[in-house]
Amino acid sequence: FGDRVLHGKKVVVSAGPTYEDIDPVRFIGNRSSGRMGFAVAEAAAQAGAQVTLVAGPVGLASPPNIAKRIDVRSAAQMHAAVTEAAADADIYIGAAAVGDYRPNTIAAHKLKKQAGAELTLQLAENPDILASLSAQRAHPFLVGFAAETQNVESYARDKLQRKGLDMIAANQVGDGMGFETADNAITLYWVDGSAELPRADKAILARQLIEHIASRYKAVRG
Ligand code: PMT
Repeated sequence: FGDRVLHGKKVVVSAGPTYEDIDPVRFIGNRSSGRMGFAVAEAAAQAGAQVTLVAGPVGLASPPNIAKRIDVRSAAQMHAAVTEAAADADIYIGAAAVGDYRPNTIAAHKLKKQAGAELTLQLAENPDILASLSAQRAHPFLVGFAAETQNVESYARDKLQRKGLDMIAANQVGDGMGFETADNAITLYWVDGSAELPRADKAILARQLIEHIASRYKAVRG
């Protein structure tokens, strides 16, 4: 399926959350289960692509037929793994929910509770994986996701432009939508178009997404 456009193409997919360690027992994470990204990796492999899946901490078995899986924990590790895998890739699809910030320092020992006192965590900004790829002169066709709780279209179009993407898949999250669930609903945006993918199982949505990526890829890179 996918009109054979992706046949033999190198596709890198990121999936899942990142965990930013605070100390040996605590971390900052998010609610991504990895299901959306794993479904996208599976659909890309079904379309004949050679898929590398870079996964944050998730409890999911690898999809069949992917060429390689790299497991990471933090945003910095995901950044390094994606940068290396994407160096000779044709397409990068960023479905991971990458932490925007990490604790300034990781405590070597478990932080002790100071009864009655407030605790302040200092956070440092993480690199933006998509933006750093698009800043490279030769880079893969870039597909981002946008997880928004409001103003979905305007925030998604802003990310499409600001991060220099070829396409963005926007999903409304919160109220039991998007994260963790078996189904999702997506609106795709590219520079001069959009497409509505109504609520469906993530496996079905992933195949529709891959069809759209194949036809846009053919239009701009074919
Ligand atoms: O994993 P599931 O439980 O199945 O849930 C799926 C999902 C809701 C996590 C997924 O569909 C989704 O929307 N993933 C992106 C979530 C997200 O972090 O969105 P964002 O709007 O914060 O980031 C926008 C884009 O920039 C994303 O493609 C993200 O991978 C990328 N990004 C973000 C931060 C960063 N430092 N580097 C990045 O590349």
